[in-house]
Amino acid sequence: MEKNLDFKRHRRLRTSNSMRSLVRENHLRVDDFIYPMFVIEGNKIKNEVASMPGVYQFSLDLLLDEVKTVYNLGIRAIMFFGVITAKDEIGTGAFVDDGIVQTATRMVKEAFPDLLVVADTCLCEYTSHGHCGVIHNHDVDNDESLKLLAKTAVSQAEAGADIIAPSNMMDGFVAAIRLALDEAGFQHIPIMSYAVKYASSFYGPFRDAADSAPQFGDRKTYQMDPANRLEALREAQSDIEEGADFIMVKPALSFLDIVRDVRNNVDVPVVAYNVSGEYAMVKAAAQNGWIDEKALVMEMLTSMKRAGADIILTYFAKDVAVWLKEENR
Ligand code: PBG
Repeated sequence: MEKNLDFKRHRRLRTSNSMRSLVRENHLRVDDFIYPMFVIEGNKIKNEVASMPGVYQFSLDLLLDEVKTVYNLGIRAIMFFGVITAKDEIGTGAFVDDGIVQTATRMVKEAFPDLLVVADTCLCEYTSHGHCGVIHNHDVDNDESLKLLAKTAVSQAEAGADIIAPSNMMDGFVAAIRLALDEAGFQHIPIMSYAVKYASSFYGPFRDAADSAPQFGDRKTYQMDPANRLEALREAQSDIEEGADFIMVKPALSFLDIVRDVRNNVDVPVVAYNVSGEYAMVKAAAQNGWIDEKALVMEMLTSMKRAGADIILTYFAKDVAVWLKEENR
């Protein structure tokens, strides 16, 4: 008998849509998403963020309508960022009882009790200098900032936040917040730590949206160097030891290797933050007709799942929810 060429026929499993669906390894679900939203002081405001088409700052009077749309799309987790004008040295607006995020949280929890509100716990949107903590000697003072961060977390929990997500990258922030939450009777509230947060150029559009750009210097003494990988494991490890219930990696797209490393090294849910700059790049290219937006977004977010993310924080959540509905046969 004649000898045949010997090789593997991988294309057998790619012959049709149904065949490809049958063997697909990773999927996006609407339950995977947390949708970030910007809340601004004032009335009747719906400002589109210039560098983030399709993303708006909403005043409180218009917020519930938008949240309803989000809810009706099937999304069950949102995150608020506050935009205020009266800022001070210590970011008082972050932890007052009637702060903008606390008020938004109360409103939303009353109207949609089963919609999870994830609180971004940070000071940079509320400090006059735009840094994520208190400044001493031209740098953010770690331990002083922890006290304010813990206060912020407790005020967010009191307003009804379901998950506390500290993002200011102070050492010990999970330990400090866990202790403060427990002392205030919030033992049941989980902490989603932005454990692995890089000092990234991908946050530019967000800082426009949240008016939170640092007024001097940068965030490199507290956020991580994008060149580092092992440091991510140390950050994740210490936050787990301090009691983190979720670990976040941020940004997502150029840090998918880190998402995988973290997924392989911790046993809690891993969250990938598809940040503002990643969103802006896609939108800009789409507006120019240079890419197929839907196909590209689905590929990008599915890649985050493939890299090991269990949950994705993304400004595309609403769009994807619509697309997933359309595809539901
Ligand atoms: C607050 C915070 C930032 C983002 C989320 N929380 C900005 C920063 O660290 O400067 C960025 C999110 C995004 O770019 O979408 N510290």
